[in-house]
Amino acid sequence: MKKLADQITDKVCMAFEAAGYDPALGRCTPSNRPDLCQYQCNGAMAAAKVYHMAPFLIAQAVVEQLAGEEMFSKAEAVRPGFINLDVAPAYLAQWMEAVGADPRRGSDPDSQPKTIVLDYGGPNVAKPLHVGHLRSAIIGEAIKRIARFKGHTVIGDVHLGDWGLQIGQIITELKHRQPDLPYFDPAVTEGFPEEPPFTISDLEEIYPCASKKSKEDEAYKAEAQEATAQLQEGHPGYRALWRHIINVSVSDLKRNYEKLNVTFDLWKGESDCQPYIPPMVEKMKADGYAYLSDGALVVDVAEEDDAREVPPCLILKSDGAAQYETTDLATIIQREEDYHPDRIIYVVDKRQELHFVRVFRCAYKTGLVDKDKCSLEFVGFGTMNGKDGKPFKTREGGVLRLEYLLRDVSDAVYEKSKTNGSDLSEAELRQIADQVGLAAIKYGDLSNQPSKDYIFDLNRFIAFEGNTGPYIMYTMVRIKSILKRFQEASPQAELGRILPPEGQKETDLYLTLARFSDAIDDAYEQNAPNRLCRYIYDLSNCLNQFYAERNILKEPDPEKQASYVSLIRLVLKVLELAVDLLGFQAPERM
Ligand code: ARG
Repeated sequence: MKKLADQITDKVCMAFEAAGYDPALGRCTPSNRPDLCQYQCNGAMAAAKVYHMAPFLIAQAVVEQLAGEEMFSKAEAVRPGFINLDVAPAYLAQWMEAVGADPRRGSDPDSQPKTIVLDYGGPNVAKPLHVGHLRSAIIGEAIKRIARFKGHTVIGDVHLGDWGLQIGQIITELKHRQPDLPYFDPAVTEGFPEEPPFTISDLEEIYPCASKKSKEDEAYKAEAQEATAQLQEGHPGYRALWRHIINVSVSDLKRNYEKLNVTFDLWKGESDCQPYIPPMVEKMKADGYAYLSDGALVVDVAEEDDAREVPPCLILKSDGAAQYETTDLATIIQREEDYHPDRIIYVVDKRQELHFVRVFRCAYKTGLVDKDKCSLEFVGFGTMNGKDGKPFKTREGGVLRLEYLLRDVSDAVYEKSKTNGSDLSEAELRQIADQVGLAAIKYGDLSNQPSKDYIFDLNRFIAFEGNTGPYIMYTMVRIKSILKRFQEASPQAELGRILPPEGQKETDLYLTLARFSDAIDDAYEQNAPNRLCRYIYDLSNCLNQFYAERNILKEPDPEKQASYVSLIRLVLKVLELAVDLLGFQAPERM
């Protein structure tokens, strides 16, 4: 069904036309002055320039055409030339009925579905997921779900870091520790053991140890670089070890992402694009884009009006090694071949912005993608900081593993419900704490504009009041409990018709419900799940204010009561849909 703003727009466009003006001027939006009106149209201001007339006169002529229109309880022209509109209560009620019957709650899919490759997560094998990976996973997952809800085909790719020096370092360390393993025997080229020679905990110990040695010891570093090069050239034993490293890491990563309610369609990595690199490099050279500069192969990507220096895109280092840019460029070719995407969106730390600026420019310039057919987009996110304003660390100053963060937040929610006194069983409390804890973390993150840094403040995130995940959960659980009590008291009751709103609080609730589709569109178009968070916070506030004013369960008028029940049921449905798009869920009780 068409969203309310568009239905209003249609009417106002017709009025513009009837008054003799271009109908396209009739676009209406929710008002940014809700104290003055509910919806507004600024078209007469634009018309004034085209028709060389006072905007107020045009607005008046349009408003005349709207007289008697049952959609509006108010349509007025105000100086200098705005059109202020209020929707008639009866129309709003009718509209709510329609939203109640529509599983999409009034938000239509886009008429032109796109294919989107979403590059998010970006973990590196052999390294545990830590809080630095949190934002990409959370924001990416929400962007994916919102875009899918809008009807687009979204392919989420985790894009593993599985090909760099860290693998060479692990191989080197293993070789020092267990030189007798068949992987290191030059005589053995096949038939390697199925079982990996390490567990994930081994890897988590081996990798930092190897990385430290590599920093401190030149000879060790050279050995690790050599191992990396051999791996990349196809050394059979190293390849076999590398596959073990990936398998062991990926199952651990999957387990962790599952806890975050994050899933990927593709588990591809930097290694997958390797076959695409040599022909890409050849073509860039042949086309005259890539040239040698101090031994390295580069493509110039600076533009005249760059405010800061944009260095050339480094394609191959002087020793011939592929770079981070190289793999990202070759991956674009691969994605083009596999999916012909209309958009490729990267959800990556904003400190990598310059990398992506160079990669995107290089991809467009060298013709890897056609700018008109595929847009390359960077959604750079800020850092999650601790209360000291510095990147979030453990008390000991190390990086916090994601698992531990989830556990700590869940524990805190659990302790809080315990102290508040609860009749729920231990197991239920634990399960609820996991759900509410996840909502606290995800909402705490998503409610910020992605590009902004934010402070992770445990107590604030788990508070039941204010703009928090638990507040939204609490609102939803509250509705569930009222619905349950109503059902118990009147098991026979039919779902009631939604009546026209009475009074400001009720009208606000209806209008906010009607804005769901606007919030979805905003969140989708701007890659900004924070818009949807803002919306569910507004909706929860409206619901709680409405509830404070009306005693639903004690309402004497059965028709009104039935209408209230249908209304809050609808609010619950919208909240459930929205939090699912944000990647979490409300418990039954709390
Ligand atoms: N693995 C990278 C890192 O840890 C992030 C990958 C982001 N995606 C990409 N296509 N470059 O920094």
